[in-house]
Amino acid sequence: MRLTHLTLSNVRSVVQATLTPGPRFNVISGDNGAGKTSILESLYLLSNGKSFRGRVGDGLVRVNAPALEIFARWDTASGAQRQLGLRHSGSDWEGRLDGQNCQLLSDLCTALASVTYEPGSHALIDGRSDQRRRMMDWGLFHVEPAFISPWRRLARAHKQRNALLKQRGLSMAQLEAWEAELAQSGEVVTRLRADHIDALAPLVALWGQRLLPELGEAILRFLPGWKRQELSLADALLVNRPRDLATGFTTAGPHRADWELAFAHRAQGERLSRGQTKLAALAVILAQAEHYAIQRGEWPVVLLDDLASELDPQHRESVLRALATAEAQVFISGTVAQDLSFPDGLDVKKFHVENGAVREI
Ligand SMILES: Nc1ncnc2c1ncn2[C@@H]1O[C@H](COP(=O)(O)OP(=O)(O)O)[C@@H](O)[C@H]1O
Ligand SMILES: [Mg+2]
Repeated sequence: MRLTHLTLSNVRSVVQATLTPGPRFNVISGDNGAGKTSILESLYLLSNGKSFRGRVGDGLVRVNAPALEIFARWDTASGAQRQLGLRHSGSDWEGRLDGQNCQLLSDLCTALASVTYEPGSHALIDGRSDQRRRMMDWGLFHVEPAFISPWRRLARAHKQRNALLKQRGLSMAQLEAWEAELAQSGEVVTRLRADHIDALAPLVALWGQRLLPELGEAILRFLPGWKRQELSLADALLVNRPRDLATGFTTAGPHRADWELAFAHRAQGERLSRGQTKLAALAVILAQAEHYAIQRGEWPVVLLDDLASELDPQHRESVLRALATAEAQVFISGTVAQDLSFPDGLDVKKFHVENGAVREI
């Protein structure tokens, strides 16, 4: 996917800005507070329905403006030209995809695929499991058509079981029925997740080798959310039922699924530095982008917000060199001070943002 046009209005401090991105690297520079992240957030919003810094209602719409508006056009690998427009007030939204009104934000957001690395991405490695689960499921939503239906059934069954566990005088027959549904859909979801992590593992090792060779082989491992080696999900739910009835929620199961990343030259439990954690997160994000590219025949748009922060010049260069070999369209933001040195012969388009206005340089 290659964006050929982007217009944003009333996104944070940006009143209106238009960009005509180049097909490969697009560097967006500007001082702190100029509006660089707002531009990347706009693209993120089109492919996720919210920002990586929170929901639209949490400050993404410019103060005193009724709503933000974003319009993007892009070319696909198959030669199609697509376009997406979104108007969002924080509570209400209207969207048009390829000229048609869209009823579901999730439909709108699957059209434009992007992966994002931003200053908070270290949490993918050292934060809570929900973001790792979200990342894993993002990949499955985009590359595995058989994932959505069992995933929805699982989410519903999990919610219903939790609601029943909190009820006094609950119906055991109902609990058993939802447990059966949870077990059945949960096993399918878990098998797909395990396969997905298996497919990602060699790519994560490859990107680990490119970005963090000093840590040795990067080993990605799936954690299913219950003792899957010993118990089927149905048995795990049954075994945990007394405890779950006491606590009022489902303790073990696919809602706790996770993955972990280890490195051959790191003892278990040895902490990575902040910079290494960021690079490890970036390796996973780019591995997932490459997996998408292999499966779908085109790269998702790669968004790198503030790439240079906390990466030393040598690692910064490895990132750019590795990305230069990928066929992706990349957007990189950074302050002018953190100048990026690109390998020779690379197609780089540069933009400068000042007080929310964008100009090509
Ligand atoms: N809802 C809003 N309305 C107006 N200005 C905002 C809003 N939210 C954030 N800002 C301002 O927008 C500016 C641009 O932010 P940002 O895109 O994060 O800049 P950069 O990434 O270039 O440092 C900041 O100065 C911020 O204070
Ligand atoms: Mg920023």
